Amino acid sequence: MNKYVIHGGRPLNGTVNISGAKNAAVAILPATILVKGTCRIENLPDISDVNLLLEILAMMGAEVRRVSPSIVEINCAHINNMVAPSDLVRRIRASSYLIGALLGRFGYAKVSMPGGCYFGVRPIDQHIKGFEAMGATVEQSAGYVIAKTENGLHGGHVYLDIVSVGATMNIMIAATLSSGMTVIENCAREPHIVDLANFLNAMGAQISGAGTNIIKVRGVQQLGGGYHTIIPDQIEAGTYMAAVSATGGNVLVQNVIPKHMDCITAKLREMGVTITEYDEAIRVERTAPLRKTNVKTSPYPGFPTDMQPQIVACLSLAQGTSIVTEGIYDNRYRFVAELCRMGAAIQVDGKVAVTEGVAQLRGCDVRAFDLRAGAAMIIAGLAADGVTTIDDIHFVERGYENIVGKLRELGADIARVTIHDPAESEEAV
Ligand code: EPU
Repeated sequence: MNKYVIHGGRPLNGTVNISGAKNAAVAILPATILVKGTCRIENLPDISDVNLLLEILAMMGAEVRRVSPSIVEINCAHINNMVAPSDLVRRIRASSYLIGALLGRFGYAKVSMPGGCYFGVRPIDQHIKGFEAMGATVEQSAGYVIAKTENGLHGGHVYLDIVSVGATMNIMIAATLSSGMTVIENCAREPHIVDLANFLNAMGAQISGAGTNIIKVRGVQQLGGGYHTIIPDQIEAGTYMAAVSATGGNVLVQNVIPKHMDCITAKLREMGVTITEYDEAIRVERTAPLRKTNVKTSPYPGFPTDMQPQIVACLSLAQGTSIVTEGIYDNRYRFVAELCRMGAAIQVDGKVAVTEGVAQLRGCDVRAFDLRAGAAMIIAGLAADGVTTIDDIHFVERGYENIVGKLRELGADIARVTIHDPAESEEAV
């Protein structure tokens, strides 16, 4: 069993390099199924969700060549399996994109209901509505989603009931090789949606409007190979910005697109953090105590739900009472009980968390309930007095490349330890 052990109370200083965006990578990898030539993908984050998707693609018949930890070449010309391996697929949410990709290329997909972090029910009805608008029939049976079309997908008009990242990307993927024009209205505008469109267009697709709330996909007959470099991870960058804000210190967060960070930068400035933007970097400096603020999560360009746990960890140490409203998920506050074990004073009522800032958190044993909850526990542990151990760190490793190494470079005292019952030993990091 692996854990993180943090001796808290040290400010963070130095420079951190941000990896490629997880939520772009996990859509682009399944989308390579549409492409008959070789796709070379650079700035790929070395995280377990990405490695799992590469494994799934290889099991389906793709040629996958890892040129380096951050570069992969994938050729799906000879893919021969339209049924995704269920035990692997069930572990991640992004496997839903396999449905759109297989349906788009072969007119048939059988994929286990996708898994992922638990924040309440996470339906895929909007994805299905999109596939049906393009002429597919979709049924759910024995834990599988089975989508098919007799004569290929045709263009369709889809008005999403909910602004959904996954539905927007999945419909884009499925529509790429359809006949005719697909219009997706009320779609999500996250940077990774633009990145997926850029990837597909680089391979020969005709997608316009990504980054606005209406996307148009003119179907093409075939995609050839090409190159794509994944954008920097907005949430990984935001997590390091939040970490410095909680611990104090001065860190240059490199390889970011500052525009993508605006929603996070604005909040941290309200909390008294000094932020300086450069072309591809952001300096974060916190010398004075943090101030309270209110946060409501909403689709991009609003404050991201994937930064909500990290900002709550910061606010638990801010002067005054802060109100956080979760606008995307029904149940994304399970980590609050863990923060309260560390001395935070937070009350949750439905989608609202009221945080009374405390002067100090105290280290103790906590667990990561999911990926971003784990990031929040790390931030709290770095800022706390004493020793924090974090269990279930496999969630964190789904989405943060080398988080222990990067934090140690900034001066944190954090280690990944493997517990061999009953004794424990330190792993090299
Ligand atoms: N929803 C529906 N029906 C659908 C699709 C979504 O009701 O068909 C609801 C969801 O239940 C949720 C809301 O709509 O309440 C938004 O969900 P969305 O589809 O936007 O989320 P997702 O595509 O499942 C992606 C990220 C999440 C991130 C959300 C929101 C990936 C693999 N996951 O999930 O990332 O929270 O968008 O930005 O891209 C994370 O990285 O930690 C993470 C959870």
